[in-house]
Amino acid sequence: MIVCICNNVSDKAIRKAVDDGATSMPALRKQLAVGTCCGKCHSCAKTVLRECLEDQSSAAIPFQPSFASA
Ligand code: FES
Repeated sequence: MIVCICNNVSDKAIRKAVDDGATSMPALRKQLAVGTCCGKCHSCAKTVLRECLEDQSSAAIPFQPSFASA
């Protein structure tokens, strides 16, 4: 899905940028130029960024078997 039409930035590009270390809108703007023309994509890009960061943080939680505390 294209998030930023002005700069042809997709949700996949945002996900890759987050995987490469971007953690904020300024970082995405610098890396991908997302939201630097008309700005109409800002809220959608921010939503995709937040989802990517949430996915990363939930993936970082190690598996804890329920019987571990017994
Ligand atoms: S749609 Fe992203 S800056 Fe215009």
